[in-house]
Amino acid sequence: MSVATGFQAGSYGGVGPQPQAPAVPGHAGRRGETVVEARGLTRVYGSGEAQVIALDEVSLAVQRGQFVAIMGASGSGKSTLLHCLAGLDAPTQGQVLIAGRDITAMRDQELTTLRRDQLGFVFQSFNLLPTLSAEENILLPLRLAHRKPDTDWYNAVVTVLGIENRLEHRPSELSGGQQQRVAVARALIGRPAVVFADEPTGALDTASSAALLDVLAQTCQTLGQTVVMVTHDPEAAATTSRIIRLADGRITQDQAVERRSGAHAASAPAPGTNAPAAPGTQAQAAQDPGRQVRAAASPGGASWRPRHAAGSL
Ligand SMILES: Nc1ncnc2c1ncn2[C@@H]1O[C@H](COP(=O)(O)OP(=O)(O)OP(=O)(O)O)[C@@H](O)[C@H]1O
Ligand SMILES: [Mg+2]
Repeated sequence: MSVATGFQAGSYGGVGPQPQAPAVPGHAGRRGETVVEARGLTRVYGSGEAQVIALDEVSLAVQRGQFVAIMGASGSGKSTLLHCLAGLDAPTQGQVLIAGRDITAMRDQELTTLRRDQLGFVFQSFNLLPTLSAEENILLPLRLAHRKPDTDWYNAVVTVLGIENRLEHRPSELSGGQQQRVAVARALIGRPAVVFADEPTGALDTASSAALLDVLAQTCQTLGQTVVMVTHDPEAAATTSRIIRLADGRITQDQAVERRSGAHAASAPAPGTNAPAAPGTQAQAAQDPGRQVRAAASPGGASWRPRHAAGSL
């Protein structure tokens, strides 16, 4: 790591000034401003009789701090929409703007840099590098961007996700759910402008899924993180702030969700009960997974010490 661009590295290694509010590019803007926009997005696969119109003139705008669920039947175009919004697939027609920049007009190199610095991804398949440990996988995006990890944030993310004891292991030594949590940590570690997630809870049990969704919701509410998530699960969608429904490549419904506080109270152990903690997750984190995220986000608010040599990469 040679350059610390945009990161408040004050708490990193215990030297330097106290950390300020997050200052990575994705959080430099104001809550409520448009951070993702699609204009007339159309994606056609194949031709002739084999032609499929996966997206049919989809237009939408996502504001900073929103936690958006994209729902719809299998084949309705959810993944295609996510991939086009994230610059992983090129639409046949239409435009995608990330923080006001038209990514559909970008050259490959510019798009690659924007994806690396501004976007986080969580896929149905975890896409972890098999030869790297969990910790190395999580820190890889920062390493590629020559950015220094914020150790408090790193510790908060891995603790809340319940993977703090699995960091030295390679993906093949982790369960599917643990691999997915590593993938989520990797997406959150750089505090990107937007996290795109395709069925991020698909491989998790109910309690782990609830804890993960609470973490995502908290990062949106507290840090102004923007998350766009494809899900089939109505319970998962209920934790978001907005649900967009697709059918045959078109938006059929777009509704705000009134955020229920403690939406997952039923699946997390209530204080004073004997209900087991979420597997692999500290009981405290299961009761209030966002607490440590909030602590890490507030200046001087983190009360635990770094446990891992996050700066070793
Ligand atoms: N590479 C491709 N070539 C041809 N058709 C494709 C391709 N990718 C997707 N499609 C088609 O586009 C449509 C939308 O696919 P998409 O993967 O976006 O659906 P989805 O809503 O994510 O479904 P699921 O819930 O099963 O993941 C489907 O009819 C699919 O068969
Ligand atoms: Mg899909």
